[in-house]
Amino acid sequence: MSSQQATTIGILGAGRAGTALARQAVKAGYQVRIATTAPAAENALLVDIVTPGAVAVESSQAAASDLVVLAIPLHKYRTLNQSDLAGRIVIDAMNYWAPVDGVFDDFESDSRTTSEVVEEFLRDARVVKSLNHIGYHELEEDDQPAGTATRRALALAGDDARAKALVANFIDRLGYDAVDAGPLAAGRSFQPATEIFTGSHTANQLVALIQKVRPLVDAA
Ligand SMILES: NC(=O)c1ccc[n+]([C@@H]2O[C@H](COP(=O)([O-])OP(=O)(O)OC[C@H]3O[C@@H](n4cnc5c(N)ncnc54)[C@H](OP(=O)(O)O)[C@@H]3O)[C@@H](O)[C@H]2O)c1
Repeated sequence: MSSQQATTIGILGAGRAGTALARQAVKAGYQVRIATTAPAAENALLVDIVTPGAVAVESSQAAASDLVVLAIPLHKYRTLNQSDLAGRIVIDAMNYWAPVDGVFDDFESDSRTTSEVVEEFLRDARVVKSLNHIGYHELEEDDQPAGTATRRALALAGDDARAKALVANFIDRLGYDAVDAGPLAAGRSFQPATEIFTGSHTANQLVALIQKVRPLVDAA
């Protein structure tokens, strides 16, 4: 792997978000491995049909990728394998969505962002929050070439500069501008119910929105 490019993408979760991301990553030229809690053989046919070009693997094999995307229901984060993900660059695309997934004390009683809670659980992974604020159906529709004035932007937040650089490059190859919102805690600015989460923005608009809420994020 070069310093700024990932070649293999592991996706944990083969639902709406995971399969849309797999197709978009295949289109962008990545080797894509996708896994659920089921054995790879059980997912192989579905993956062939729904995400052609991606490969169904065991979750440990998906975790052994340059970038690993968490696309599972957030309240299942404790089912992730900590040792598989140790040392990995992990994109947290998950959202806390109590009306659908139920109320979970892990997030209700913790003032930190959900990604910080997940990073603490994963212990040795370098977590970057991103890809959570674009709908699965939009991901394959809103992409545009770099340099297009109206190109949609996606925010990312994390504490590891090299991990963020790799994720930014991945986002760009998926067809979106990447905007660094700051440390992992700054992911608060694009969690559910925020203006960033509910809208679609160019890079300039996203930068302005991130700056607007920064005092609130810093004070949290
Ligand atoms: N839907 C969207 O538009 C969208 C957009 C951005 C972000 N997100 C976020 O992405 C996440 C997934 O959403 P979704 O709509 O794709 O959910 P979904 O359709 O319910 O799919 C969830 C997938 O996760 C798998 N899974 C559960 N636990 C797992 C584990 N420990 N390891 C590997 N796979 C596991 C499930 O399969 P098994 O249960 O069989 O293992 C299933 O394939 C959520 O956190 C959501 O907030 C969703």
